[in-house]
Amino acid sequence: MKSRTDGRHVSISGLGCHVPERVMTNDELARLVDTSDEWIRDRTGICERRIAGPEEALSDVCRPACRKALEMAGVDPRAVDLLIVATVTADMLFPSTAALLADELGMPDAAAYDLSAGCTGFMYALAQAYGMVAAGLSGRALVVGGDVLSKILNWEDRSTLVLFGDGAGAVVVEPVDHGGFLGFELGADGAGGEYLSFPSSGSRVFAEPERYLKMNGREVFKFATRVLVNSAEAILETCDKTVDEVDVYVPHQANVRIIDHAARKLGFPDEKVVVNVDRYGNTSSGSIPLALADAGDDGRLVPGRLVLMTGMGAGLTWGSALIEWTHVTNGAIA
Ligand SMILES: CC(C)(COP(=O)(O)OP(=O)(O)OC[C@H]1O[C@@H](n2cnc3c(N)ncnc32)[C@H](O)[C@@H]1OP(=O)(O)O)[C@@H](O)C(=O)NCCC(=O)NCCS
Repeated sequence: MKSRTDGRHVSISGLGCHVPERVMTNDELARLVDTSDEWIRDRTGICERRIAGPEEALSDVCRPACRKALEMAGVDPRAVDLLIVATVTADMLFPSTAALLADELGMPDAAAYDLSAGCTGFMYALAQAYGMVAAGLSGRALVVGGDVLSKILNWEDRSTLVLFGDGAGAVVVEPVDHGGFLGFELGADGAGGEYLSFPSSGSRVFAEPERYLKMNGREVFKFATRVLVNSAEAILETCDKTVDEVDVYVPHQANVRIIDHAARKLGFPDEKVVVNVDRYGNTSSGSIPLALADAGDDGRLVPGRLVLMTGMGAGLTWGSALIEWTHVTNGAIA
């Protein structure tokens, strides 16, 4: 699916992020499994990640991010009528984490639901919120992307353990006078679903229950390098924009080698590319908002700038959004 927005201006007016306090270094992981700081840095660019505590569930990581986003937008929670949480690690299958958060944040009039599109979830949720707000179904939405993948990792499997971290980000999406979202491109290929899955997490019964995230790293690497480029090219063409016109490129933070490949192929100079996978690892649905927050804190998110975001992940799924930034954004990481 790719589409250019039709002239109604809807934008991000507030951004907030939160990561658990606990920092876990590569050296600590090397004491748990047969790996090394050198291997992890060379192959992924990751130096450390945040890990939620035993008592910390997804909603606990999302809540501070939501409060920060609302504060930045200057919005009373009661004025939010739609709350979407993109995640694959909800507190529980039901009730949705979105319903729990709507209650805790004080949003009695909000429709609230969780959305599952792997690490691409935040991009899917942004597109849905845009559509609901642009169509007038929602007056103002809160979109949250967050995951605590540490809870579903096999802590004895070095091939997945070193890649992921926990974190969340939230944005307020509402009508504005000018600028805002220019278009979206979203896709899914279930044929590749087996390459990144959490098998025994639903109604399908397996002969041998598989209780952890499962991944074929090489296949996902090939998929990721392909779709990050294709999706970005597709959305730029749909919106009649060029790589040169994009000021800030925010790719999903999975592996610095994947990011470098996509940036080089697309022709982005280093200074336009946002990278923070070194500090957080792959935070799944939290990845794009956390990277946006870093760009904001660096002073890169200012009105008039063109920002391209592209995510990819389990499904397999991918998604891009192009937005003309409309609000000064900094101090987003709580
Ligand atoms: C997982 C990934 C980092 C592996 O990097 P790679 O360069 O492809 O490494 P390979 O899979 O070829 O493995 C090379 C060797 O390192 C070993 N290895 C794997 N993980 C290791 C680790 N943490 N520490 C040390 N060695 C490791 C492998 O067993 C393999 O050993 P072998 O050659 O004896 O079989 C890379 O494939 C990747 O990033 N894939 C995409 C993952 C991703 O982004 N997932 C989420 C998408 S949202």
